[in-house]
Amino acid sequence: MQVRRSVALEYFGIVTMFVVSGHTTVKSFRKPLVGSRYAGAPLERRLWNKRKCARLWMQQTSSAGTAGTGTADASSTDSKPTAGVGTVAVFGASGRTGKQLLRQLCSQRACRQVRAIVRDASRLRNELASWKQDPSLNGVHVDVRAVGDLTRLDSNALSELVRGVDAIIWSAGASGGRDGFQTSPAALDEATLQRLCSVLATESTANGVTFRSPDEMVRVLDFGRGPLVPAAFTAVDDVIMGGQSKSSFHFDSNDSVGLFTGLVTTDGGGGFCHVRCDASAVMPAERFGDAPLVNVDENGRSVPHWDLAAYDGIALVVRGDGRRYKVNLKTSSEPELVFQQEFVTSDDLPPGTFETHFLPFADFVPVRRGEPVYSTGSAQLYAMKLDPNRIRSVGLVYSKVAIGGGPAIDFRPGRFHLACRRICAYRQVPPRFLALSSAAVTRPYWPPLKRQAYPELAQVPIVKLNPAGVLGHKLAGEDAVRTLVSHRSSLGAPYAIVRAVGLNDGDDPDFPGAAQGELRFGQGDLMVGKISRTVLAELLVNLLNEPEGFCKTFEVKQEPKTMSRNGTGASAATLSLAEKLRQLRTDVARALKPWNPPPSLS
Ligand SMILES: NC(=O)c1ccc[n+]([C@@H]2O[C@H](COP(=O)([O-])OP(=O)(O)OC[C@H]3O[C@@H](n4cnc5c(N)ncnc54)[C@H](OP(=O)(O)O)[C@@H]3O)[C@@H](O)[C@H]2O)c1
Repeated sequence: MQVRRSVALEYFGIVTMFVVSGHTTVKSFRKPLVGSRYAGAPLERRLWNKRKCARLWMQQTSSAGTAGTGTADASSTDSKPTAGVGTVAVFGASGRTGKQLLRQLCSQRACRQVRAIVRDASRLRNELASWKQDPSLNGVHVDVRAVGDLTRLDSNALSELVRGVDAIIWSAGASGGRDGFQTSPAALDEATLQRLCSVLATESTANGVTFRSPDEMVRVLDFGRGPLVPAAFTAVDDVIMGGQSKSSFHFDSNDSVGLFTGLVTTDGGGGFCHVRCDASAVMPAERFGDAPLVNVDENGRSVPHWDLAAYDGIALVVRGDGRRYKVNLKTSSEPELVFQQEFVTSDDLPPGTFETHFLPFADFVPVRRGEPVYSTGSAQLYAMKLDPNRIRSVGLVYSKVAIGGGPAIDFRPGRFHLACRRICAYRQVPPRFLALSSAAVTRPYWPPLKRQAYPELAQVPIVKLNPAGVLGHKLAGEDAVRTLVSHRSSLGAPYAIVRAVGLNDGDDPDFPGAAQGELRFGQGDLMVGKISRTVLAELLVNLLNEPEGFCKTFEVKQEPKTMSRNGTGASAATLSLAEKLRQLRTDVARALKPWNPPPSLS
């Protein structure tokens, strides 16, 4: 069985990216979102899901992730998590905008790792070499993935490229010179982008493409809340079969952790320690966590259990000793039958830090007395799957037996300790997606009324030439991105589509002082002008953490700053990025509004 798991760090109960990026957005813990399936749902429901996705983005960005995984501090309502993401995949990273994106991601420390997806690694070599002299660019790991022609990658290859990332920026695009396009816009800007979106939409949860957002968690047992929960754990060591190991689970008030500790020995044929917390021991649930704990009748008996059907797995926020531990989940009254999964702890965490292990429910194995039940020959049990809506108990195990029933090769008799800050249920969520598109993509398709209203916009050279139908292909690519949010099998990937006007590297005589220009946003594809690639890249990186841009398609350009009365050059419009983006309509809302010519023209 392939075991998928991941680890993230947490510092003193404050999410890691707080340290990484230094932002200080105060956030309180939000209840998780329940109910995500809405394909074909009425508009009302789809809109609700857009709002939900906006929250999702907000949650993702106001909390933290590291190393392409989530990390959590669900316990502290007063913590100050920061904007930031773990891994960002950049398609077209060796392009002119792509290079600026890499620079911005690294200089802003907007993520922990950049996955630079390029056609040819040599196109980035000089750029990265020049960074060596600049310490401000060296804090983020750049993982260059040379993949050749993107248009030749099938869904599996694309899926592999975005596996485990927190965000994707698409800045690839067929570029044309005098000799025409090297790559067909139909193949790259449309078909490849469509394929990538379909990977994200359909394969997300199945193939682990998604990442885990810290806030998509509920606390099952939170030891930061006080000493009551550890008292609910009982030890069931190997003495029940003649062994001499001994363990306990107690509350450590200095550290606000539950401590699973003991001495394990193989004397007397033993070799395991095990502690277990029954759901019945932690009623009422609110004292210990937020996960729904219900008490229902099963065959005439009242059986308390956690209902985690809305979640994808268990996350443990722990600090261990380098040992491999197992988690037991009991879901039925079948004697001695549990579902089991393992995780390996680090032994070199900095003081005061925790790591989060994500264990998908789908990877739990039915086990009885340490043996997978299928090896007992029981056909009925072989087909067993963990039922997350009936979790009666949660256990922690240190054992000489590995998950498959054989000897654990790294088993070490002696003292062990596993400090547990909390046990959560987590939900997988898809990466956010930023697509760089182009102004004018709709203009070839404007209705006559709009063409008449804006003849100067409908007649710009790119619209008149529209080489290889590039604008239409870019629009089709955009459409694929827009469907991400309404796709059935994902929670709805938060996306933003940025239609840039003419790009510029700051050396354009018609566009002096590009870096100082003020950002102007628009919708309706009515924008002309210029924007520097540096400024555009900075905007895209900021958008990673800006939920106000969510589910929106918009144009952007730079305009010279308005001079203030005293001539200082201070901006007259002092709106923040979030405020500017807030004024833009989401795509659904926009689609509902019929286009009307402005009053002056009608
Ligand atoms: N130029 C403008 O005024 C303007 C205005 C609005 C929007 N845009 C759009 O903004 C995006 C970025 O623009 P830019 O000026 O930064 O473009 P660029 O420098 O030409 O970058 C395009 C990127 O796409 C990659 N690419 C092209 N074909 C590929 C293929 N078959 N396989 C793999 N990678 C491929 C290129 O790889 P290599 O590095 O290997 O060549 C390059 O990294 C483009 O989509 C462009 O259409 C441009």
